[in-house]
Amino acid sequence: MRGTLGSLLASAAVARAANGANSTTAITADGSNFTLTGDGVSYLFHVDPSSLDLVSDHFGGPATDFTPPANIYAGGWSDGLTNTRREFPDVGRSDYRLPAIHIKHADGDTVSAFTYQSYDITAGKPALPGLPATYGSDSDVSTLTVRMYDNYSDIEAVLSYSIFPKYNAVARSFRISNNGTSNISIERAASFSVDLPNLDLNMIELQGDWAHEMNRVIRPVQYGETGFRSTEGYSSHIHNPFMALISPTTTESSGEAWGFNLVYSGSFATTTERFSHGYIRVLLGLNPLHASIPVAPGDTFQAPEVVAVYSSEGLGGMSRSYHDLYRNHLSRSNHTFQTRPVLLNSWEGLGFDINQTSLDALAQQTADLGIKLFVNDDGWFGKTPYARINDTAGLGDWIPNPDHFPNGLGPYVASVDSFTVANTSEKLQFGIWMEPEMVNPNSTLYTEHPDWVMYQGKHPRTLTRNQLVLNVGMTEVQDFIIQAVSNVINSANIRYIKWDNNRGIHEMPSPAADYEYMLGLYRVIDNLTTTYPDILFEGCASGGGRFDAGLLHYWPQHWTSDNTDAADRLTIQMGTTIMYPPSAMACHVSAIPNGVTMRNISIEYRATVALMCGSFGFELKPVDLSAEERAAIPGILANWELINPIVISGSFYRLALPDDTNWPAAQLVSQDETTAVVFAFQQQATVKPAAPPLRMAALNATAMYRSNAFNGTYSGATLMNAGLNLPWQVEDYQSMLIYLYKQ
Ligand code: DGJ
Repeated sequence: MRGTLGSLLASAAVARAANGANSTTAITADGSNFTLTGDGVSYLFHVDPSSLDLVSDHFGGPATDFTPPANIYAGGWSDGLTNTRREFPDVGRSDYRLPAIHIKHADGDTVSAFTYQSYDITAGKPALPGLPATYGSDSDVSTLTVRMYDNYSDIEAVLSYSIFPKYNAVARSFRISNNGTSNISIERAASFSVDLPNLDLNMIELQGDWAHEMNRVIRPVQYGETGFRSTEGYSSHIHNPFMALISPTTTESSGEAWGFNLVYSGSFATTTERFSHGYIRVLLGLNPLHASIPVAPGDTFQAPEVVAVYSSEGLGGMSRSYHDLYRNHLSRSNHTFQTRPVLLNSWEGLGFDINQTSLDALAQQTADLGIKLFVNDDGWFGKTPYARINDTAGLGDWIPNPDHFPNGLGPYVASVDSFTVANTSEKLQFGIWMEPEMVNPNSTLYTEHPDWVMYQGKHPRTLTRNQLVLNVGMTEVQDFIIQAVSNVINSANIRYIKWDNNRGIHEMPSPAADYEYMLGLYRVIDNLTTTYPDILFEGCASGGGRFDAGLLHYWPQHWTSDNTDAADRLTIQMGTTIMYPPSAMACHVSAIPNGVTMRNISIEYRATVALMCGSFGFELKPVDLSAEERAAIPGILANWELINPIVISGSFYRLALPDDTNWPAAQLVSQDETTAVVFAFQQQATVKPAAPPLRMAALNATAMYRSNAFNGTYSGATLMNAGLNLPWQVEDYQSMLIYLYKQ
């Protein structure tokens, strides 16, 4: 359907009550008013008839009417557009707040004047050229495109709004086409911009660092700017490209929450700006420091998309919408809804001590424990003088070290494949680590192509972990990576690849190089995941440094953190689940004392923490396990068999957070709602007070449940309202796995 400002009354779609909207009735438009309606969300904006600017009306719970805006005193300097709630704020025409779009014209000026032209409504959702994005069929999602034009500069902006009614989610992006005769550059591009009314809101973000990812931080949305960004070139450990806004009374299970998540893996920035009238502008998109993206006459710039979710059922409701949306309509991996094999990764056990003898021994121990996938992490490649025997050499030279694999990977992997996994008839599978976007100066690749790295002519090429970043924006580099990874995959029976990335980007040839890099990276990954759909890819960036929705479009899972200490990991994992599904987290049981924290925690607790993730495994030398630890392994694997299918497709509830209580807990409910599993923890031994009863969530109140935790049956109502008193001992770091089976 298509409409113009003239067709004011030609309703483009039949409006329906907010509840029960389906994708074909989710958008109504008449060229003046626009309404997107989900099962529990409405998003309203309109065209101001005099300025032809787009005005934000409502983003929140169901609403069907356009009501008059707040009465703002328009005296003094603050008049015109700065007093309105804008959908697509540009620069230089009386709006003093930060813009969503900032364009530099050839003559150096940066004033824009976008005005409304026309709209389209289509069933489904078009792909974003070159970028990862949510997708869906005509019955899942529908899309409103709104065309704006700057007549002074001959530039078109096409805004895209896609609504997934079932998930209360709106995906937004825009593209800019340069129809003029001279070059322009995009200085700022916030894919999502909305002006909320004068509400009392708090901002939640996930802040951290290496081995300290995804810590929940909350602060009030104050006057001026409240925000954060990544300038690492990647989404980063420091801040994730996600923010939630919540009402002051919002909890895990009640109250309003708005989530905003950028589907992109490069530098980003997000800001709220509360102006003098109290209106709150929300912006999320590229980091302006890594923009200045040139758009030549006739060319188009495409902004990545932001997925915004509204929930009236607290942060938990928001999280579950993201989890379901991302599993069904973001991830396109074959593995997303498949259980993942238990694995053993060589990194924490062997480090760089990689040779056929050490690997054979570890692979044999892996199979003997009943573990199904053996992963050779770092240290298998490069040739003297660039052999990867430590982290100073070899990255870029993706050939097996001939000293250790004289016949290449093929025969070696075939020998691993001959091991039988204990207590099964299955053969051990093999996976391998790569870090394809990086190069050590000590490598054949760098010697041959020193100009393939990210560098700025006159500046030194600064190293981190002795390595440089390849400029993946270059087509030659993209083709090299595709070939190098394909060669490894084709050389042996590889079932899994861990794709690592261990430094941020420093010197760039231009600010736009980050965006160009991301387009190149997505081209590479799109090619490889399409060519090899059965390989299980796991993203990694020194742990969770690139755990983002962009990569989850292609890969089903990501290594969550290099910190495998179960106490810290619980916080990291609970943080990660704010918007990413637990099925996307990779989590391992490692040896004690822990390599990062030196903490000693029982194997049961370590396993209970790791079992809440889609990809569960071990990262230790089985021969070093104590007799007690070894005896626990069969029970852990039996729990994995029961839990992994529920993690993969079930619903996740954070019952209590480790930073709020000594007794954190989480719960998964199977998709068919017949089984729930509760992960319960006591962090520190306490003499007094007693632990509060553990109250479950999302059970059927009138159904009866049996459990491994009590005799007989209890009703769902009892378990949710009275809860269970668990028999904690006066001991640090205890855990329980409680299964509830609906009768
Ligand atoms: C960083 C990753 O996060 C680790 O798991 C491991 O793969 C090392 N790199 C290997 O160098």
